[in-house]
Amino acid sequence: MAGITIVGSGRYLPGPPVPNDALARVMDTSDAWIRQRTGIATRHYAPDGVGVSDLAVHAARAALEDAGIDGAQVDYVIFATMTPDYPFPGPGALIAARLGLDQVPALDVRQQCCAIPYALQVADGLVATGAARTVLLVGAEAHAGFMPWTEWRALEDPEVVVSTQARERATRHRGLAVLFGDGAGALVLRPHPKPGHGLIGVRVRSDGHGAHQLYVEAGGFRRRPYLQPWMLEEDLHVPRMEGRELFRAAVTRLPALVRELCAAHDVALEQIDWFIAHQANDRINAAVREALGVPEERVPSNIARYGNTSSATIPILVDELRRDGVLREDQLVCFLALGAGLHWGAALMRL
Ligand code: UT7
Repeated sequence: MAGITIVGSGRYLPGPPVPNDALARVMDTSDAWIRQRTGIATRHYAPDGVGVSDLAVHAARAALEDAGIDGAQVDYVIFATMTPDYPFPGPGALIAARLGLDQVPALDVRQQCCAIPYALQVADGLVATGAARTVLLVGAEAHAGFMPWTEWRALEDPEVVVSTQARERATRHRGLAVLFGDGAGALVLRPHPKPGHGLIGVRVRSDGHGAHQLYVEAGGFRRRPYLQPWMLEEDLHVPRMEGRELFRAAVTRLPALVRELCAAHDVALEQIDWFIAHQANDRINAAVREALGVPEERVPSNIARYGNTSSATIPILVDELRRDGVLREDQLVCFLALGAGLHWGAALMRL
C-alpha cells in the first residue's frame, strides 16, 4: 500500500494582522529590526478567551470540505499544539466532539514546531496497520496568552499610553515576543491510490539536552501548587528562549537530516519540487537553503504575514500552496522543521 497523502487542507487566522509598528508601542523594538532579523511583517493573535480548539475547528471544517468528505469518514484525529486550552485534557477530543466525530480516537501530540514530521509518521503508521484510513491532522496555536504585555489595546490604538515599567518588562522578552503568531491549519490524510506515491519516508530526532533552550517554567507540575502568584510576577509563564543556540541547531541539524533522509530513499535534492519548511525565522530558512544548495524559489515562505505559528505553520503553508495551485499531483515535497524539545524532523512525500 502507498503512503498517506494530503486530500484536503484548511487554515484559519484569527483577528486582523498586527504589524511590527504596533509591537513597537508596547516594547523597545522596531519594524526595521524585526524585518531584517526575522522576515516578519505581521502576525495574528487569538482574542482573549479564544483557544486552540476554537481556532482549529474552522481550519478542520475547511479541510474536510476541501477533501469533499464529511466528519463521519474521519477515523482518527491528531491534534498538535504547544498552547492547549487546558493543561489537560489536550484539545484533540474537544475538537473531535465539536466536529461531531462520535468517539473517534483523538491523539494529542506535543512536538511544538516539529509536530508535523512526527504527526505524519504517526498517521502513516496508523494507516499502514489498519487502525485508520482517514486521519484529520490539526496544528493550532494561541501564543497570545504568553505575550509579555497586558495593555493589548495599545496594539490597536496609538493613543493608549503604556507605562515605562510595562514597557521595560515586555522589552526583556522582545527577542521571543516578536516571533510568534496564532493560527490553525488542518490536513486530511489518506493512503495515496498510486504505488510509490504518498509518504515515502520520515526521519525524526529528539535531544532533551536542549530542552531548556526554549521552554515554559510555570504551569508544569513540579511545584505544589503548580501555579503560584510569584510565577506571574517573575514572568515564568513567558517562554525562555536561547535564540542563538536554536538558530545554530536549526541551520546545522536540518540540512544534515534532509540529506540523510534523501540518501536513505535514493532521492537527489534536485528531484524535490518544494521544501516546505517550518517558518521560525527567514534567516534560518535562507541558511538551510544555502547549506543544501537549493534555489530560493523552491522554498516557499509565508513568515512575513504570520510569524512563527509553531505546529500550525506547515499545515497553513500547505493550505495556501494547495489553494494557489502551487502544489500539484506527482510533485515531490520535503517537509522540514525544528523546535522546542529539541525535536527536529524531515519527511518526503510524493503528492
Ligand atoms: O520555532 C523554533 C523556535 N525558535 C527559533 O528557532 C528562534 C531562533 N532564533 C532566532 O530567530 C534569532 O536568534 C532571534 C530572532 C530570536 C534573535 O535574533 P539574533 O540575530 O540572534 O539577535 P540576538 O539575540 O543576538 O540579539 C542581537 C541584538 C541584541 O542587542 P545588543 O545586545 O547587540 O545591543 C538584542 O538585545 O538585538 C537585540 N534584540 C532586539 N532589538 C530590537 C533582540 N530582539 C530584539 C527586538 N527588537 N525584537
